[in-house]
Amino acid sequence: MKPVKVGICGLGTVGSGTVNVLLRNADILASRTGQKLQVAQIAARRPNPSCDTTGIPVTSDIYEVATNPDIDILVELIGGYDVAKKLVLTAIENGKHVVTANKALIAEHGNEIFAAAREKNVVVAYEAGVAGGIPAIKALREGLVGNRINWLAGIINGTGNFILTEMKEKGSPFSEVLKKAQDLGYAEADPTFDVEGIDAAHKLAILAANAFGTPLAFDKTYTQGISQVTPDDLQYAQELGYRIKHLGIARRTEQGVELRVHPTLIPESHLLASVDGVMNSVLIDGDAVGQTLYYGAGAGSEPTASAVVADIADIARLIDAPGAAVPPIAALNGGENVPVLPITDVNAACYLRMRAKDHPGVLMRVTEVLGQHGINIDALLQKESRESDGTADIVLLTHEIKESLLNTALKELEALNDIAGPVAHIRVEHLSG
Ligand code: HSE
Repeated sequence: MKPVKVGICGLGTVGSGTVNVLLRNADILASRTGQKLQVAQIAARRPNPSCDTTGIPVTSDIYEVATNPDIDILVELIGGYDVAKKLVLTAIENGKHVVTANKALIAEHGNEIFAAAREKNVVVAYEAGVAGGIPAIKALREGLVGNRINWLAGIINGTGNFILTEMKEKGSPFSEVLKKAQDLGYAEADPTFDVEGIDAAHKLAILAANAFGTPLAFDKTYTQGISQVTPDDLQYAQELGYRIKHLGIARRTEQGVELRVHPTLIPESHLLASVDGVMNSVLIDGDAVGQTLYYGAGAGSEPTASAVVADIADIARLIDAPGAAVPPIAALNGGENVPVLPITDVNAACYLRMRAKDHPGVLMRVTEVLGQHGINIDALLQKESRESDGTADIVLLTHEIKESLLNTALKELEALNDIAGPVAHIRVEHLSG
Protein backbone atom coordinates (compact mmCIF):
# COMPACT_ATOMS: atom_id res chain seq x y z
CA MET A 1 0.00 0.00 0.00
CA LYS A 2 1.42 3.42 -0.96
CA PRO A 3 1.52 5.48 2.27
CA VAL A 4 -0.12 8.86 2.66
CA LYS A 5 2.81 11.13 3.48
CA VAL A 6 2.33 13.69 6.21
CA GLY A 7 4.68 16.64 6.82
CA ILE A 8 4.49 18.26 10.25
CA CYS A 9 5.53 21.91 10.59
CA GLY A 10 6.08 22.82 14.22
CA LEU A 11 7.14 20.42 16.96
CA GLY A 12 5.83 22.24 20.02
CA THR A 13 3.09 21.02 22.34
CA VAL A 14 0.60 20.09 19.62
CA GLY A 15 3.20 19.04 17.01
CA SER A 16 4.87 16.57 19.36
CA GLY A 17 1.47 15.23 20.46
CA THR A 18 0.48 14.74 16.83
CA VAL A 19 3.65 12.81 16.00
CA ASN A 20 3.20 10.67 19.12
CA VAL A 21 -0.44 9.82 18.32
CA LEU A 22 0.31 9.10 14.65
CA LEU A 23 3.16 6.74 15.60
CA ARG A 24 1.50 5.10 18.60
CA ASN A 25 -1.84 4.49 16.88
CA ALA A 26 -0.50 3.81 13.37
CA ASP A 27 -2.09 0.35 13.18
CA ILE A 28 -5.54 1.55 14.30
CA LEU A 29 -5.40 4.47 11.88
CA ALA A 30 -4.38 2.16 9.01
CA SER A 31 -7.26 -0.21 9.68
CA ARG A 32 -9.79 2.60 10.09
CA THR A 33 -8.75 4.65 7.07
CA GLY A 34 -7.50 1.91 4.77
CA GLN A 35 -4.35 3.99 4.36
CA LYS A 36 -0.92 3.89 5.95
CA LEU A 37 -0.24 7.33 7.42
CA GLN A 38 3.47 8.06 7.38
CA VAL A 39 5.14 10.99 9.12
CA ALA A 40 7.46 11.64 6.19
CA GLN A 41 9.04 14.94 7.26
CA ILE A 42 9.12 17.30 10.22
CA ALA A 43 10.11 20.96 10.25
CA ALA A 44 11.22 22.13 13.67
CA ARG A 45 13.55 24.74 15.06
CA ARG A 46 14.72 22.40 17.78
CA PRO A 47 14.08 18.81 18.92
CA ASN A 48 11.28 18.21 21.43
CA PRO A 49 12.27 15.72 24.15
CA SER A 50 8.64 14.56 24.54
CA CYS A 51 8.66 13.13 21.03
CA ASP A 52 10.91 10.48 19.44
CA THR A 53 11.60 11.39 15.80
CA THR A 54 14.11 8.64 15.12
CA GLY A 55 14.07 7.72 11.45
CA ILE A 56 11.97 10.75 10.42
CA PRO A 57 13.74 13.39 8.29
CA VAL A 58 13.80 16.69 10.19
CA THR A 59 14.49 20.06 8.63
CA SER A 60 14.58 23.54 10.11
CA ASP A 61 12.97 24.99 6.95
CA ILE A 62 9.14 24.83 6.91
CA TYR A 63 9.06 25.67 3.19
CA GLU A 64 11.01 22.48 2.45
CA VAL A 65 7.91 20.61 3.62
CA ALA A 66 5.54 22.89 1.67
CA THR A 67 7.44 22.27 -1.57
CA ASN A 68 8.45 18.64 -1.00
CA PRO A 69 6.80 16.74 -3.89
CA ASP A 70 6.48 13.62 -1.71
CA ILE A 71 4.28 15.26 0.93
CA ASP A 72 0.50 14.79 0.55
CA ILE A 73 -0.68 16.60 3.70
CA LEU A 74 1.08 19.53 5.37
CA VAL A 75 0.19 20.01 9.03
CA GLU A 76 0.64 23.62 10.14
CA LEU A 77 1.33 23.79 13.87
CA ILE A 78 3.61 26.82 14.06
CA GLY A 79 0.85 29.27 15.07
CA GLY A 80 0.80 33.02 14.44
CA TYR A 81 -0.41 34.84 11.34
CA ASP A 82 2.04 35.97 8.69
CA VAL A 83 4.46 33.06 8.42
CA ALA A 84 1.68 30.52 8.97
CA LYS A 85 -0.41 32.11 6.22
CA LYS A 86 2.51 32.12 3.78
CA LEU A 87 3.27 28.49 4.66
CA VAL A 88 -0.33 27.37 4.15
CA LEU A 89 -0.69 29.24 0.86
CA THR A 90 2.63 27.81 -0.37
CA ALA A 91 1.49 24.30 0.51
CA ILE A 92 -1.83 24.85 -1.31
CA GLU A 93 0.00 26.28 -4.32
CA ASN A 94 2.05 23.08 -4.36
CA GLY A 95 -1.12 20.97 -4.39
CA LYS A 96 -0.97 19.79 -0.79
CA HIS A 97 -3.87 19.31 1.56
CA VAL A 98 -3.48 21.27 4.77
CA VAL A 99 -4.42 20.53 8.37
CA THR A 100 -4.06 23.32 10.90
CA ALA A 101 -4.82 23.99 14.56
CA ASN A 102 -4.49 27.72 13.98
CA LYS A 103 -7.87 29.30 14.78
CA ALA A 104 -6.55 32.83 14.48
CA LEU A 105 -5.31 32.13 10.95
CA ILE A 106 -8.57 30.48 9.85
CA ALA A 107 -10.84 33.04 11.52
CA GLU A 108 -9.00 36.05 10.11
CA HIS A 109 -7.70 34.76 6.76
CA GLY A 110 -9.86 31.69 6.15
CA ASN A 111 -11.97 33.21 3.38
CA GLU A 112 -8.80 33.84 1.33
CA ILE A 113 -7.23 30.49 2.24
CA PHE A 114 -10.36 28.50 1.29
CA ALA A 115 -10.61 30.35 -2.02
CA ALA A 116 -7.01 29.32 -2.80
CA ALA A 117 -7.75 25.74 -1.73
CA ARG A 118 -10.83 25.56 -3.98
CA GLU A 119 -8.73 26.69 -6.95
CA LYS A 120 -6.27 23.88 -6.34
CA ASN A 121 -8.89 21.30 -5.38
CA VAL A 122 -7.28 20.61 -2.01
CA VAL A 123 -8.64 20.44 1.53
CA VAL A 124 -7.90 22.81 4.39
CA ALA A 125 -9.10 21.23 7.64
CA TYR A 126 -9.04 22.95 11.04
CA GLU A 127 -10.94 20.84 13.60
CA ALA A 128 -8.16 21.30 16.18
CA GLY A 129 -8.58 25.07 16.06
CA VAL A 130 -11.95 24.98 17.79
CA ALA A 131 -12.38 23.56 21.29
CA GLY A 132 -9.25 21.37 21.05
CA GLY A 133 -10.14 17.71 21.20
CA ILE A 134 -13.93 18.14 20.95
CA PRO A 135 -15.06 17.18 17.42
CA ALA A 136 -17.36 20.20 17.17
CA ILE A 137 -16.68 21.00 13.51
CA LYS A 138 -17.14 17.36 12.61
CA ALA A 139 -20.45 17.32 14.51
CA LEU A 140 -21.70 20.31 12.50
CA ARG A 141 -20.29 19.05 9.21
CA GLU A 142 -21.33 15.41 9.52
CA GLY A 143 -23.49 14.28 12.40
CA LEU A 144 -25.78 17.31 12.22
CA VAL A 145 -25.57 17.80 8.45
CA GLY A 146 -29.31 17.24 8.07
CA ASN A 147 -30.22 19.99 10.51
CA ARG A 148 -30.86 23.65 10.10
CA ILE A 149 -28.81 24.99 13.00
CA ASN A 150 -30.80 27.47 15.06
CA TRP A 151 -28.10 28.48 17.50
CA LEU A 152 -25.03 27.31 19.32
CA ALA A 153 -23.35 28.38 22.54
CA GLY A 154 -20.01 27.31 23.87
CA ILE A 155 -17.44 27.61 26.59
CA ILE A 156 -14.58 27.72 24.12
CA ASN A 157 -11.71 29.26 26.03
CA GLY A 158 -10.34 27.05 28.76
CA THR A 159 -8.23 29.77 30.37
CA GLY A 160 -11.21 32.08 30.78
CA ASN A 161 -13.29 29.24 32.17
CA PHE A 162 -10.51 28.34 34.61
CA ILE A 163 -10.30 31.96 35.79
CA LEU A 164 -14.07 32.31 36.35
CA THR A 165 -14.20 28.93 38.10
CA GLU A 166 -11.36 29.87 40.48
CA MET A 167 -12.80 33.33 41.13
CA LYS A 168 -16.12 31.78 42.09
CA GLU A 169 -14.68 28.99 44.21
CA LYS A 170 -12.01 31.02 46.01
CA GLY A 171 -13.58 34.48 45.89
CA SER A 172 -10.26 35.76 44.45
CA PRO A 173 -10.06 38.80 42.18
CA PHE A 174 -9.48 38.48 38.45
CA SER A 175 -5.84 39.69 38.44
CA GLU A 176 -4.77 37.16 41.06
CA VAL A 177 -6.35 34.22 39.25
CA LEU A 178 -4.95 35.33 35.88
CA LYS A 179 -1.46 35.16 37.38
CA LYS A 180 -2.21 31.61 38.57
CA ALA A 181 -3.45 30.64 35.08
CA GLN A 182 -0.23 32.01 33.61
CA ASP A 183 1.91 30.15 36.15
CA LEU A 184 0.08 26.94 35.26
CA GLY A 185 0.79 27.57 31.56
CA TYR A 186 -2.90 27.82 30.52
CA ALA A 187 -2.98 31.37 29.18
CA GLU A 188 -1.93 32.08 25.57
CA ALA A 189 1.45 33.82 25.07
CA ASP A 190 -0.50 37.06 25.01
CA PRO A 191 -3.13 36.59 27.76
CA THR A 192 -5.34 39.33 26.30
CA PHE A 193 -6.39 36.82 23.61
CA ASP A 194 -7.86 34.62 26.35
CA VAL A 195 -9.16 37.15 28.83
CA GLU A 196 -10.51 39.72 26.40
CA GLY A 197 -12.38 37.09 24.39
CA ILE A 198 -10.39 37.28 21.13
CA ASP A 199 -9.47 33.58 21.19
CA ALA A 200 -13.11 32.66 21.83
CA ALA A 201 -14.24 35.02 19.04
CA HIS A 202 -11.88 33.31 16.59
CA LYS A 203 -13.42 29.96 17.51
CA LEU A 204 -17.00 31.27 17.45
CA ALA A 205 -16.52 32.77 13.98
CA ILE A 206 -15.38 29.36 12.71
CA LEU A 207 -18.22 27.49 14.42
CA ALA A 208 -20.82 29.93 13.09
CA ALA A 209 -19.54 29.74 9.53
CA ASN A 210 -19.88 25.97 9.70
CA ALA A 211 -23.27 26.12 11.41
CA PHE A 212 -24.89 28.62 9.06
CA GLY A 213 -22.86 28.24 5.87
CA THR A 214 -21.96 31.91 6.01
CA PRO A 215 -18.52 33.45 5.34
CA LEU A 216 -16.18 33.81 8.30
CA ALA A 217 -17.06 37.01 10.13
CA PHE A 218 -14.56 37.38 12.96
CA ASP A 219 -14.35 41.13 12.32
CA LYS A 220 -18.09 41.47 12.97
CA THR A 221 -18.13 39.33 16.13
CA TYR A 222 -19.03 41.28 19.27
CA THR A 223 -16.22 40.51 21.70
CA GLN A 224 -16.16 41.16 25.43
CA GLY A 225 -13.79 39.46 27.87
CA ILE A 226 -13.95 38.54 31.53
CA SER A 227 -11.63 41.13 33.03
CA GLN A 228 -14.53 43.26 34.32
CA VAL A 229 -16.31 40.38 36.12
CA THR A 230 -15.87 40.68 39.90
CA PRO A 231 -16.06 38.06 42.67
CA ASP A 232 -19.20 39.94 43.83
CA ASP A 233 -20.86 39.34 40.45
CA LEU A 234 -20.15 35.62 40.72
CA GLN A 235 -21.54 35.59 44.26
CA TYR A 236 -24.69 37.60 43.43
CA ALA A 237 -25.34 35.46 40.36
CA GLN A 238 -25.19 32.39 42.57
CA GLU A 239 -27.64 33.93 45.04
CA LEU A 240 -30.03 34.45 42.12
CA GLY A 241 -29.63 30.81 40.95
CA TYR A 242 -27.16 31.45 38.12
CA ARG A 243 -23.52 30.90 37.18
CA ILE A 244 -21.43 33.29 35.12
CA LYS A 245 -19.72 31.64 32.16
CA HIS A 246 -17.81 33.19 29.28
CA LEU A 247 -19.85 32.10 26.27
CA GLY A 248 -19.56 32.35 22.53
CA ILE A 249 -23.09 32.53 21.13
CA ALA A 250 -24.15 32.31 17.48
CA ARG A 251 -27.83 32.52 16.65
CA ARG A 252 -29.66 32.68 13.37
CA THR A 253 -32.62 35.06 13.45
CA GLU A 254 -34.93 36.33 10.73
CA GLN A 255 -33.01 39.60 10.67
CA GLY A 256 -29.52 38.09 10.50
CA VAL A 257 -26.93 36.27 12.56
CA GLU A 258 -25.95 37.14 16.12
CA LEU A 259 -22.26 36.55 16.80
CA ARG A 260 -21.24 37.46 20.33
CA VAL A 261 -18.70 36.53 22.95
CA HIS A 262 -19.28 37.82 26.47
CA PRO A 263 -19.68 36.81 30.12
CA THR A 264 -23.17 35.35 30.50
CA LEU A 265 -25.41 34.35 33.39
CA ILE A 266 -26.83 30.89 32.79
CA PRO A 267 -29.15 28.95 35.13
CA GLU A 268 -27.15 26.90 37.64
CA SER A 269 -29.25 23.86 36.71
CA HIS A 270 -28.07 23.96 33.09
CA LEU A 271 -25.45 21.35 32.12
CA LEU A 272 -23.11 24.06 30.80
CA ALA A 273 -23.05 25.60 34.28
CA SER A 274 -21.13 22.58 35.57
CA VAL A 275 -18.40 22.84 32.93
CA ASP A 276 -15.60 24.06 35.16
CA GLY A 277 -11.84 24.58 35.13
CA VAL A 278 -10.12 24.48 31.75
CA MET A 279 -12.74 22.26 30.14
CA ASN A 280 -14.63 23.32 27.01
CA SER A 281 -18.18 22.53 25.93
CA VAL A 282 -20.32 23.31 22.90
CA LEU A 283 -24.12 23.19 22.86
CA ILE A 284 -25.79 23.05 19.44
CA ASP A 285 -29.50 23.44 18.71
CA GLY A 286 -30.62 21.92 15.41
CA ASP A 287 -34.15 21.93 14.01
CA ALA A 288 -34.34 18.14 13.73
CA VAL A 289 -32.21 16.87 16.59
CA GLY A 290 -32.95 19.56 19.20
CA GLN A 291 -30.03 20.21 21.53
CA THR A 292 -26.79 18.21 21.56
CA LEU A 293 -23.93 18.90 23.95
CA TYR A 294 -20.21 18.21 23.48
CA TYR A 295 -17.67 18.32 26.32
CA GLY A 296 -13.94 17.79 26.54
CA ALA A 297 -10.44 19.17 26.74
CA GLY A 298 -10.08 22.40 24.79
CA ALA A 299 -6.31 22.42 24.77
CA GLY A 300 -3.28 20.30 25.60
CA SER A 301 -0.87 18.20 23.60
CA GLU A 302 -2.71 14.97 22.84
CA PRO A 303 -6.30 16.27 23.12
CA THR A 304 -5.51 18.78 20.37
CA ALA A 305 -3.50 16.16 18.48
CA SER A 306 -6.58 13.94 18.55
CA ALA A 307 -8.39 16.53 16.41
CA VAL A 308 -5.38 17.09 14.13
CA VAL A 309 -5.12 13.35 13.50
CA ALA A 310 -8.87 13.13 12.81
CA ASP A 311 -8.45 15.68 10.02
CA ILE A 312 -5.41 13.85 8.63
CA ALA A 313 -7.43 10.61 8.65
CA ASP A 314 -10.39 12.25 6.88
CA ILE A 315 -8.15 13.55 4.13
CA ALA A 316 -6.36 10.20 3.84
CA ARG A 317 -9.71 8.46 3.32
CA LEU A 318 -10.56 10.84 0.49
CA ILE A 319 -7.20 10.86 -1.27
CA ASP A 320 -7.75 7.67 -3.27
CA ALA A 321 -11.54 7.77 -3.41
CA PRO A 322 -12.34 8.25 -7.09
CA GLY A 323 -14.58 11.25 -7.67
CA ALA A 324 -14.68 12.16 -3.98
CA ALA A 325 -15.80 15.73 -3.41
CA VAL A 326 -12.66 16.75 -1.60
CA PRO A 327 -13.00 20.52 -1.08
CA PRO A 328 -16.29 20.45 0.84
CA ILE A 329 -14.45 18.94 3.79
CA ALA A 330 -13.67 22.56 4.56
CA ALA A 331 -17.45 23.06 4.70
CA LEU A 332 -17.04 26.74 4.02
CA ASN A 333 -18.13 27.30 0.49
CA GLY A 334 -18.28 31.05 0.50
CA GLY A 335 -21.91 30.58 1.49
CA GLU A 336 -24.83 32.85 1.99
CA ASN A 337 -24.08 36.43 2.88
CA VAL A 338 -26.43 36.83 5.83
CA PRO A 339 -25.92 40.10 7.77
CA VAL A 340 -24.32 39.95 11.20
CA LEU A 341 -26.50 41.90 13.62
CA PRO A 342 -24.94 44.70 15.68
CA ILE A 343 -25.00 43.99 19.42
CA THR A 344 -27.43 46.89 19.88
CA ASP A 345 -30.04 44.86 17.97
CA VAL A 346 -29.68 41.81 20.21
CA ASN A 347 -32.48 41.00 22.65
CA ALA A 348 -31.34 39.51 25.94
CA ALA A 349 -32.30 39.43 29.59
CA CYS A 350 -29.78 41.27 31.76
CA TYR A 351 -28.08 41.29 35.11
CA LEU A 352 -27.42 44.81 36.36
CA ARG A 353 -25.27 45.70 39.37
CA MET A 354 -24.98 49.23 40.67
CA ARG A 355 -23.63 50.88 43.77
CA ALA A 356 -26.31 53.06 45.34
CA LYS A 357 -26.17 55.62 48.11
CA ASP A 358 -28.18 54.28 51.02
CA HIS A 359 -30.99 56.90 50.93
CA PRO A 360 -34.77 56.57 51.07
CA GLY A 361 -36.37 56.28 47.63
CA VAL A 362 -33.28 55.12 45.69
CA LEU A 363 -34.82 51.82 44.72
CA MET A 364 -37.95 53.65 43.57
CA ARG A 365 -35.92 56.00 41.34
CA VAL A 366 -33.99 53.08 39.83
CA THR A 367 -37.11 51.07 39.07
CA GLU A 368 -38.80 54.21 37.71
CA VAL A 369 -36.04 54.68 35.09
CA LEU A 370 -36.30 51.03 34.07
CA GLY A 371 -40.09 51.20 33.97
CA GLN A 372 -40.03 54.30 31.76
CA HIS A 373 -38.03 52.35 29.19
CA GLY A 374 -40.35 49.36 29.33
CA ILE A 375 -37.76 47.23 31.13
CA ASN A 376 -39.46 44.56 33.18
CA ILE A 377 -37.71 43.44 36.38
CA ASP A 378 -37.50 39.71 36.95
CA ALA A 379 -35.60 39.60 40.28
CA LEU A 380 -33.97 42.04 42.65
CA LEU A 381 -31.33 41.90 45.38
CA GLN A 382 -30.46 44.78 47.68
CA LYS A 383 -27.32 44.12 49.73
CA GLU A 384 -26.63 45.66 53.15
CA SER A 385 -24.86 49.01 53.02
CA ARG A 386 -21.10 49.15 53.55
CA GLU A 387 -20.03 50.96 56.70
CA SER A 388 -16.97 52.32 54.88
CA ASP A 389 -18.85 54.55 52.42
CA GLY A 390 -22.56 54.10 53.11
CA THR A 391 -23.24 52.60 49.69
CA ALA A 392 -25.07 49.38 48.96
CA ASP A 393 -25.10 47.13 45.90
CA ILE A 394 -28.40 46.83 44.06
CA VAL A 395 -28.60 43.86 41.73
CA LEU A 396 -31.40 43.36 39.22
CA LEU A 397 -32.35 40.78 36.66
CA THR A 398 -34.44 42.10 33.80
CA HIS A 399 -36.64 40.33 31.32
CA GLU A 400 -35.52 40.31 27.69
CA ILE A 401 -34.84 43.77 26.31
CA LYS A 402 -33.29 45.14 23.14
CA GLU A 403 -29.75 46.24 23.93
CA SER A 404 -30.11 49.70 22.40
CA LEU A 405 -33.04 50.45 24.74
CA LEU A 406 -31.14 49.08 27.72
CA ASN A 407 -28.16 51.31 26.92
CA THR A 408 -30.34 54.42 27.05
CA ALA A 409 -31.74 53.33 30.42
CA LEU A 410 -28.23 52.59 31.75
CA LYS A 411 -27.10 56.13 30.85
CA GLU A 412 -30.04 57.54 32.80
CA LEU A 413 -29.32 55.31 35.78
CA GLU A 414 -25.68 56.36 35.81
CA ALA A 415 -26.77 60.01 35.74
CA LEU A 416 -28.84 59.61 38.94
CA ASN A 417 -27.25 61.30 41.98
CA ASP A 418 -28.01 58.18 43.98
CA ILE A 419 -25.85 55.90 41.83
CA ALA A 420 -22.08 55.89 42.26
CA GLY A 421 -19.99 54.84 39.25
CA PRO A 422 -20.92 52.76 36.24
CA VAL A 423 -23.68 50.14 36.18
CA ALA A 424 -22.26 46.66 35.51
CA HIS A 425 -24.26 44.82 32.86
CA ILE A 426 -24.01 41.09 32.07
CA ARG A 427 -26.35 39.36 29.59
CA VAL A 428 -28.45 36.41 30.74
CA GLU A 429 -29.23 33.36 28.55
CA HIS A 430 -31.50 30.48 29.48
CA LEU A 431 -30.28 28.32 26.56
CA SER A 432 -33.61 26.64 26.33
CA GLY A 433 -34.77 27.34 22.82
N1 HSE B 1 -5.73 29.34 25.05
C1 HSE B 1 -6.77 28.49 24.63
C2 HSE B 1 -7.72 28.27 25.78
C3 HSE B 1 -6.32 27.11 24.21
O1 HSE B 1 -7.42 28.67 26.89
O2 HSE B 1 -8.76 27.69 25.56
C4 HSE B 1 -6.09 26.94 22.77
O3 HSE B 1 -7.18 27.34 22.01
